[in-house]
Amino acid sequence: MNREKILVIDFGGQYNQLVARRVRECNVYCEIYSYKTDLDTIRKMNPKGIILTGGPNSCYEEGAATCDPTLFKLGIPVLGLCYGAQIMMHILGGQVCKAPVREYGKIQVTVDRSSPLFQNVSEQTICWMSHNDYIKTAAPGFQIIAHTSDCPVAAAQWEERRLYAIQFHPEVLHTTEGTKMLSNFVYQICNCSGGWKMDAFVENTIKTIRKKVASGKVLCALSGGVDSSVAAVMLSKAVGDQLTCVFVDHGLLRKNEGDEIEEIFGPAGPYELNFIRVNAQKRFFDKLKGVEEPEQKRKIIGEEFIRVFEEEAKKIGAVDFLVQGTIYPDVVESGLGGESATIKSHHNVGGLPDYVDFKEILEPLRDLFKDEVRRAGLELDIPKKLVYRQPFPGPGLGIRIVGEVTAEKVRMVQEADAIYREELEKAGLDKQIGQYFAALTNMRSVGVMGDERTYDYAVALRAVCTVDFMTAEAAQIPWDVLGRVTSRIVNEVKNVNRVLYDCTGKPPGTIEFE
Ligand code: XMP
Repeated sequence: MNREKILVIDFGGQYNQLVARRVRECNVYCEIYSYKTDLDTIRKMNPKGIILTGGPNSCYEEGAATCDPTLFKLGIPVLGLCYGAQIMMHILGGQVCKAPVREYGKIQVTVDRSSPLFQNVSEQTICWMSHNDYIKTAAPGFQIIAHTSDCPVAAAQWEERRLYAIQFHPEVLHTTEGTKMLSNFVYQICNCSGGWKMDAFVENTIKTIRKKVASGKVLCALSGGVDSSVAAVMLSKAVGDQLTCVFVDHGLLRKNEGDEIEEIFGPAGPYELNFIRVNAQKRFFDKLKGVEEPEQKRKIIGEEFIRVFEEEAKKIGAVDFLVQGTIYPDVVESGLGGESATIKSHHNVGGLPDYVDFKEILEPLRDLFKDEVRRAGLELDIPKKLVYRQPFPGPGLGIRIVGEVTAEKVRMVQEADAIYREELEKAGLDKQIGQYFAALTNMRSVGVMGDERTYDYAVALRAVCTVDFMTAEAAQIPWDVLGRVTSRIVNEVKNVNRVLYDCTGKPPGTIEFE
């Protein structure tokens, strides 16, 4: 079947999967390929349109990522975004150079003339910019269709050839009308008809897994978070009792979380899974003793995780597949997502365990973003309460404690976090905030309690608004709520005497606090 598709050509930027995801949100199937993909392969795929993404290079530098100039002559609509726009202009004879004023963040863009790309887009529209270079002059044949105060060519088109270049990032939600622009590209310019949906993804993935697993045994790494829960339920629908779910309690979970997970997935819960809980707290604490560096902590926790699985697998007997709930942001930020730079390693993006009886790792959610995983969860009839659960990283509180991890510090952060969550829920803020949690800083300072001097730890509260977890803004929590949380934490959590609120966005911060 020649399914209608859009190709996203990856030039190595951080937002590239977002582009694909936004296209899929328009119900159009989309695949990502490296800029190194040759023209013949692209032609054979017969895409309805091509999107060139952002990237970290300067297109005029030697060795910069580029593409075959013939790409622009195939008669297929092309949309260049940021670096993609610059490379298009550079190849076709425009001028790209270092911008006199670097634009970063939300910038007002003025639409200068009508364009199918900007159909129903306001004349003044806020767009997300992140560039050091700019298009000084558009290539011959192109009309400028938008500008900003510092950027003469914010967007350009060659309408007859269906070539479009935009300097900003429509895929980032800060570009208020970005989704409209991408939808205009796929529907008005590429003439797509739509039809790709999440239910089809779920159904196809289940079928693919069933075929792949055949009569094999499957072991699932269940953490109780949204990702691994959706992966586990998907697997159980695909292969039934060939699946065993192992839940490793590494002692780095939130307060009472281990028991809650057991209640849901254990024999008393609604699922018919083979469920094994491994209480491995001591092993993890011993391994983490004296370790301060966050990447090292991630690696230790990740490796120990694999070891525990190997041991379980040995007890169960031969196991063919290991399931992990890896989702796309884990992949891209681990430097495995094509051309992007490594930010941090996530322990659930995996190498194969050494134990020979694992044939392969299954990662059914590898191409999805968090909100797509939730939509898949709803398709699978997983209760809303679980589907909308707060995200929680695989290495758990191990990466929410800055510096050495000890049982005592875990207790502090668990208690502070439980108070924080309770108060935000009471204030009705939990649904509005993408992710929030308490972390323990490595800072001790002097305080006074009663008439006593204290010298205790500071807890950092984090709350971010985000849809895709690739970018985020610090949530504006009302002062009185923060006040209540603070006084409860310093009163109720032993050895904590200060509470700080983290106002940093992502970028430049990350969502986790490690
Ligand atoms: P960062 O801190 O990278 O977090 O901005 C983005 C999202 O990913 C979650 N996160 C992880 N999830 N394993 C996971 O499954 C990990 O190792 C991991 N590290 C961060 C984080 O909670 C946020 O939702």
